[in-house]
Amino acid sequence: MLFRPSHPLTQLQYATMQDGAVVLEQDERGPKVYLLTNKTILKIFRPRSFWSRDTLYSNARSFCRNAERLDILGIPTVKILKLYRFEGSMDTAVLYQPLKGTTLRDLLKQSAITPEICNQLGAFVAQLHQLGIYFRSLHFGNVLLMHNEQFGLIDIADMNIYGWPLSISTRIRNFKRIQKYHEDMLKLGQDNRSAIMDAYIQHAGLSQSQSDRLLSKIRYQPHLQPDES
Ligand SMILES: Nc1ncnc2c1ncn2[C@@H]1O[C@H](COP(=O)(O)OP(=O)(O)OP(=O)(O)O)[C@@H](O)[C@H]1O
Ligand SMILES: [Mg+2]
Repeated sequence: MLFRPSHPLTQLQYATMQDGAVVLEQDERGPKVYLLTNKTILKIFRPRSFWSRDTLYSNARSFCRNAERLDILGIPTVKILKLYRFEGSMDTAVLYQPLKGTTLRDLLKQSAITPEICNQLGAFVAQLHQLGIYFRSLHFGNVLLMHNEQFGLIDIADMNIYGWPLSISTRIRNFKRIQKYHEDMLKLGQDNRSAIMDAYIQHAGLSQSQSDRLLSKIRYQPHLQPDES
């Protein structure tokens, strides 16, 4: 779709949607993600200021565009139902069909991450990088293992999709982003971290020297990470 029209959302419509909904995520400015009673998800985007870039091309609109582009590339993600703009404010929202599955972070909490899942995850990240998908919010809270055993992406507003494989430096940046979540890395453990990287290298289509460079830059050293407590 070239241009997705946005629909006005009145306070009354918003209040009706909130009725009986479960807040999945919130921050200091209020609820951010709702699970509505009809099992769809409403995600709210609030621009930081009037001058921020996302008042011109909203994060909600990027979210919708990325969902369409991922779908074309065969990467499972949410199915967009509607793009909204709030009446009387710069806030926007997206209504979408959730993916059926569990976030990798929840699986980590349940100690349900297996070496097999790690192998598949490494191959999946390699596939994203080969397809030119730079998912800036790539971390265990934004990747789901779906009921069909495939991985899917949520929280997809912040993403670049190039028409060529990612450069080594962009790949390194992407892995460093994941490693910032120290608690995830510790729960994952050394063996699983290695399994992910082994599978990644196997599927990333890089030369030996590129692989060596990447691995040397993203070696995870728990004792060098800031204490999160
Ligand atoms: N499509 C979906 N399928 C299943 N669960 C979802 C889906 N979208 C959101 N969720 C649940 O809601 C939680 C928060 O959603 P999301 O990651 O989009 O928001 P967020 O992390 O708060 O956003 P942001 O990173 O923009 O601050 C997820 O961790 C997940 O548990
Ligand atoms: Mg998220």
